[in-house]
Amino acid sequence: MPCLLSLLFLLLSARPGTVAAQAGPRQVVSFDKGWKFYLGDEAAAKDAQFDDARWRPLTLPHDWSIEGQFDEKNPAKPDGGGLPTGVGWYRKTFVLPATVGKSVWIEFDGVSRNSEVWLNGHSLGRRPNGYSSFRYELTPYLQPDGQSNTLAVRADNSAQPASRWYSGSGIYRHVRLVTTHQLAVAPWGTFVTTPQVSPQAATVRVQTTLRNATGQRQTVRLVMTIYDANRRQVATASTAAVSVSGTTGSATQQLTLKQPALWSPTAPRLYRVLTQVWRGKTLEDSYETALGVRSFHFDSNKGFALNGQPLRIQGVCQHHDLGALGAAVNTRAIERQLEILKAMGCNAIRTSHNPPAPEFLDLCDRMGFLVLDEAFDMWLKKKNSQDYHLDFKEWHQRDLEDQIRRDRNHPSVFMWSIGNEIREQFDSTGTRLTKELTATVKHLDPTRPVTSALTEQEPAKNFISQAGVLDVLSFNYKHAGYPELPKRFPGQKFLATEIAAAFETRGHYDLPSDSLRIWPKDGKSKLTDGNPDFTASSYDNAAPYWGATHEAAWRAIKNSPFISGAFVWSGFDYLGEPLPYPWPARSSYFGVIDLAGFPKDAYYLYQSEWTTKPVLHLLPHWNWKPGQTVDVWAYYSQADEVELFLNGKSLGVKKKGNDDLHVRWRVPYAPGTLQAVSRKAGKTVLTSSVKTAGPAAKIELLADRSKLQADGKDLSFVTVRVLDAAGNLVPDAANLVKFAVSGPGFVAGVDNGYQASMEPFKADFRKAYNGMALAIIQTTEKGGAITIKATADGLTPASITVQSQP
Ligand code: GAL
Repeated sequence: MPCLLSLLFLLLSARPGTVAAQAGPRQVVSFDKGWKFYLGDEAAAKDAQFDDARWRPLTLPHDWSIEGQFDEKNPAKPDGGGLPTGVGWYRKTFVLPATVGKSVWIEFDGVSRNSEVWLNGHSLGRRPNGYSSFRYELTPYLQPDGQSNTLAVRADNSAQPASRWYSGSGIYRHVRLVTTHQLAVAPWGTFVTTPQVSPQAATVRVQTTLRNATGQRQTVRLVMTIYDANRRQVATASTAAVSVSGTTGSATQQLTLKQPALWSPTAPRLYRVLTQVWRGKTLEDSYETALGVRSFHFDSNKGFALNGQPLRIQGVCQHHDLGALGAAVNTRAIERQLEILKAMGCNAIRTSHNPPAPEFLDLCDRMGFLVLDEAFDMWLKKKNSQDYHLDFKEWHQRDLEDQIRRDRNHPSVFMWSIGNEIREQFDSTGTRLTKELTATVKHLDPTRPVTSALTEQEPAKNFISQAGVLDVLSFNYKHAGYPELPKRFPGQKFLATEIAAAFETRGHYDLPSDSLRIWPKDGKSKLTDGNPDFTASSYDNAAPYWGATHEAAWRAIKNSPFISGAFVWSGFDYLGEPLPYPWPARSSYFGVIDLAGFPKDAYYLYQSEWTTKPVLHLLPHWNWKPGQTVDVWAYYSQADEVELFLNGKSLGVKKKGNDDLHVRWRVPYAPGTLQAVSRKAGKTVLTSSVKTAGPAAKIELLADRSKLQADGKDLSFVTVRVLDAAGNLVPDAANLVKFAVSGPGFVAGVDNGYQASMEPFKADFRKAYNGMALAIIQTTEKGGAITIKATADGLTPASITVQSQP
């Protein structure tokens, strides 16, 4: 998303709802505050004079589904997360400063879903797709300066089931008010590319589209300047004279950037391009676009290379929900997810199966993730009776074009996906649609490859690959077929868009670790041998018939150098799709990280494979029944061997063989201390131990950040651990923990990562699950110390203080 210069906000708030004037020709103000909300349908609410005094005041982004109660009977079904959906209304009354001679727009990053927006009773438009960003021009319907205006938004998520995962409901992304001169850069009106990149120089080309609402022919001068991350001007301005005769005009400018700092996941160096529109001596617009200089290519034998260097794509698929916060966008919550993934060695994310929030892409640009930006989960053929297939015909062209225009300046976005496991793969309509959608993407962005996530590896049966227009063939699962791919699709480039789909519940272990649970066994059978408590083993020994364990899946990728890399299904657990279990399971088991953000054991498998940092991770916990035979695993890296000790006695040294990804000991259980030592050339690299825990005695609180911003949005993720008297985590503790917050903050959500918990996410209590829970603390706009106190019957309480700074 283009970030904008001249954002010296002069936020004068003379009276509530008054939008303050800003300096500069383009003004962008957050329009998140001051809304009223009503859950239910109220046709008259579109009218300006409607009385919303009794409606609930709130600040966006907002997701009403996450505030509801789990119920199997909710129309979204367990696959949709088992939370309520329905219809909701939002209204905002505001006064604008002088707008004469200006163009005023309202921008929505996403409304779930089937939204319609009215200004002062005039319908501005509707948008079915809940993941699309859109805007409406307000200018024609605004009241004269100084008088109040009312926006009304109806979000209708009532037609269900409409999604294979949790969608969330409402204005769940940000809203902005944009005011420009009548002559300005058009919305999403720049396209920055780097046609030539070398360490010596990069060519930066900017295509600019102008919007002219003056009603007259205009001649303008476009000035383009490039700034580095320190806001130093690094490239001399390039100027173009443009004559704009009708409502739009366009120009292309080019600059050379000497010795460019290249963008990559390990060094995500960014520039900014400033476009200024001058009419004579008047600055009509000032518009900023992100720039990252990088080049890449796919090779049918060698896979992917970035900036001339081979790079394995070590990716994960992510749905958009933020666990206990639901779908409501929060930048810090997304950043935390990305930090956890970064530390695992993840360098790429597939936004399954829809365009993400703009903040997500900004963070990926800044933190260094490659993004496979995906458009659709279905085309004309449904996956659920009420899903987007009903809107596809009328809206797909618009939705896809808007996604490309919005996202094509992000250096993180390296590829487009036009769909996931699309049903048209299996008949000839798939060929036509693939050609059409690919042409739409290429028209707006000829610089990035287009793919689609496929399942059919038989060329004669795959009508999407038969279109012959995909730049890269991407496959989900079925790794047994990888060796055949180069023969079946000669000369093609390959990517694995989904691997694994293995199930794990954090902290739960089913023995023996080498017996595989294929849940369900095939497409016809139901799961009959699942665990009664709806858990799945964290030994990486449970997967559905179409998937594989993490190890089997990653091994297959490692052994297929022609595959550019893979996206693990999935990075985090997400709400909905609780396979393999029925209700009360209501969130997924596929994540390498649980819904609360706590890594499962497989996290360390990937970390040992995907990073160069030494890893030694020992599992399981050490609370078993005397005499029980327990499998002890270690994931390790940067070492030759691992030795295991139980209460000081060696249980032997183990080394991974060529294809191994962990070592294992089969140990007769005795309480005490299990310790692993990894060594390289005889020298200790790391030690790791786990002790038998006694009864739960106390609570420990750990905050991920102790200095927060008093902006009403910032978060501290506080991990709750239930410990014994000696400080060991009690691995099966399930104590009910209550939270009390004092100071300028509140509990925004709670979780424990258990996929079948029916406890609400919006609460000030949570049971620990396998010894852990999470409280998410949000700041208000007041600074000060925020203290979180956690208590539980029979346990020594704990408290922690974080500082919120204005
Ligand atoms: C895939 C699908 C994903 C998810 C996954 C679970 O087939 O593309 O959205 O459902 O299976 O294994």
